[in-house]
Amino acid sequence: MSTILVTGASGQIGSELVRELQQRVGISSVISTDIKPLPLENGTIFKKLDVLDRRKFEELVREYHVEEIYHLAAILSAAAEKNPILAWNINMTGTLNVLDVARVCGVSKVFIPSSIAAFGPSTPLDHTPQTTIQRPNAIYGITKVAGELLGDYYVEKMGVDCRGVRYPGIISYLTPPGGGTTDYAIDMFVSALRKEPYTCYLSPDTSLDMMYMPDALRACIQLMDADSTSLLHHNAFNVTAFQLTPARLAAAIQEYIPSFVCAFESDPVRQAIADSWPNSMDDQAARTEWGWEPRFDLDSMVQDMLQQLPAHLSLF
Ligand code: SER
Repeated sequence: MSTILVTGASGQIGSELVRELQQRVGISSVISTDIKPLPLENGTIFKKLDVLDRRKFEELVREYHVEEIYHLAAILSAAAEKNPILAWNINMTGTLNVLDVARVCGVSKVFIPSSIAAFGPSTPLDHTPQTTIQRPNAIYGITKVAGELLGDYYVEKMGVDCRGVRYPGIISYLTPPGGGTTDYAIDMFVSALRKEPYTCYLSPDTSLDMMYMPDALRACIQLMDADSTSLLHHNAFNVTAFQLTPARLAAAIQEYIPSFVCAFESDPVRQAIADSWPNSMDDQAARTEWGWEPRFDLDSMVQDMLQQLPAHLSLF
């Protein structure tokens, strides 16, 4: 079985991806890395690693004979607008370090996610095609477009098998996201279950693609398992599960928790970011090339979140 290294292992996607990969390849075959320690559970291997520290990164990859890297360390959209230089450094230099360490160490596969943020105000917002105008005007999106291109460059020119999807907003109940524009969806569940009112920082009718975490993990693993001969693209596959507006989610939660009160007060920075992202992506390329199909729609996601989140509320 291959040894896998995960960066950003303490983050929203990383923490759950580590568990999923441990189940697939065994606990001792997954090396979790982050600058923030991971709550250590039965045998999890954790190494403190700043993705900007290329030397240490390369040492770890060599020491553990790493065969696959899942690169989840990144600064999300709203946090990136507050500190664009830091976001550029982590998102770009971190990604370049991952790709280049993979090249020099002969790592067989690399996963680097992109995002709906890789689109911008001049992109067609409905049924956003796989290949279209990408002129994002927020720094996070700028780093995501550059990361997509860098991934393709390493595939074509350096022979590194780098793969990735454009994730929509991810909804999950185990680890809070931090500094994203789509975080409101999780905040709404947390407030509703705590019997607190919630004021959403996006306008009620802001439509964005979203996905429940189990589908996000499946997308990643299914793409990494795909036979490379069936892939026309490698990086930046559009993937989506359902389209959500804050008003639609509040109403869906109120069906189960009728006392939930949601108000709306747009934050100009996050509203501008959300307005520049697609209302709905076309994910046909992912469906055709590697069989992508989401399992959770809005209703089944809401039901599962309301069942699972109460046991983890203290983490939020
Ligand atoms: N969920 C991310 C964010 O809101 C998008 O990739 O920043």
